[in-house]
Amino acid sequence: ESTGDQESNNRYNDLISTLPSQRWGPDGLDLHQYNGFWYPRITVEATMAVRDRFVARPTDVILVTFPKSGTTWLKALTFATVNRNRSLVLSMLSKMNPHECVPFMSKLYLDGRLSDNNSLPAPRLFAVHTPFFLLPESVLSSGCRIVYLCRDPKDNFVSLWHHFFVCAGVRGLAHFSFDEVFELFCSGVTMGGPIWEHALGYWRESLQRPERVMFMKYEEMKADTGGSLRRLSEFIGCPFLEEEEREGKVEEIVEMCSFERLSGLEVNKNGSIVFGRGEIKNKGFFRKGEVGDWKRHLSLEMAERLDRITEEKLRGSGLEF
Ligand code: A3P
Repeated sequence: ESTGDQESNNRYNDLISTLPSQRWGPDGLDLHQYNGFWYPRITVEATMAVRDRFVARPTDVILVTFPKSGTTWLKALTFATVNRNRSLVLSMLSKMNPHECVPFMSKLYLDGRLSDNNSLPAPRLFAVHTPFFLLPESVLSSGCRIVYLCRDPKDNFVSLWHHFFVCAGVRGLAHFSFDEVFELFCSGVTMGGPIWEHALGYWRESLQRPERVMFMKYEEMKADTGGSLRRLSEFIGCPFLEEEEREGKVEEIVEMCSFERLSGLEVNKNGSIVFGRGEIKNKGFFRKGEVGDWKRHLSLEMAERLDRITEEKLRGSGLEF
C-alpha cells in the first residue's frame, strides 16, 4: 500500500464515521448514507476509492443496476454477447456464477488497494450499483458505454427482501420484519436506495446522451429477451451479424442465460462466492425470475402505497413502471 493510498484510505474512514447510519440487514450490514444513497460501509469505501483511482477506457462497458433488479442476468447476457466467438471464455458461464465472470468494480478494491485490471481484453466489463453522479470521472470522460437496468420497485422490493432477509446464505438471519423492511424501503433506506433517484439519474442521462447510456427494464427484458439483447449488442458495439442471426445466435445466448438454465447449473445450485466480508450461496441469485411476484407478497395497501410513491417521484420524467 503506497503512502498516498494509505492517506486516502484514512480519509475515507474519517468521512464514513461522520455519515448518518441505519441498522438494516444482518450484523455487519448497517447502511451509511453517502451523498444521499445508502450502502454498507465497505461499499462506501470502495465507491470512494474507485472514484479516485479507477481509470476507464473508451472500450469499457459498465453495467449499472439497482440491487436485485436483474444484475446476474445482465452480466450473463453481456458476457456471453461479447465473448460469443471465444468458446473457451464463453464456457466460463457454464462453470462459474455470472458474478465471477463480470466483477463489481468495488471488488477491484481489496485490502486498501485498487487492482488495475489492465490485462483484461477489450471490451472490459465491470458492474456497479453506484448512482450516476458518483461514477468515476474517467467513466464519464472516456466515452465508454453505460448500460443501466432497473425493475418495478414492487418486484424489486420482494426480491430484495428474500435475498437479504430470508435467504439464509447471507450472513445469518436479520431480526427485521417484512413490514419494517418495507417501511424503510419506502423511505429510501435500502441497499443502494432510494431506488427512484437511482433510476432517475440514469434515465435523464440516457435521454441526454443516448449513445452513452442505455436504459433497460427487467420487465421489457422478460417480455422480449431477444429484442433487448439485440439492442444491447448494438449499443455496446458488437451487433449480431446477418449470418449470426441466420444461425440463431441470439436465441442461443438467450437460452444460455435463461433463468432455467443458469439456475440449474451445478455451480449455481451448490456453489458460493465471496461478497464483501461474507460468502453468498449462488442459489440466492436465482429465486423465481418472474414479473409480478409482488402479488404474492405485498398486501394491496402496500402495493398501492409503493405505486403512489413511485408515481410521485417519477412524475414529469417520462419514466414509468
Ligand atoms: P426474483 O427474486 O424476483 O426471482 P440481481 O441479479 O440483481 O441480484 O437480481 C436477482 C433477481 O433476478 C431475482 O429475482 C432472480 O431470480 C432474477 N434472475 C436471476 N437470473 C435471472 C435470469 N437468468 N433471468 C431472469 N431473471 C433472473
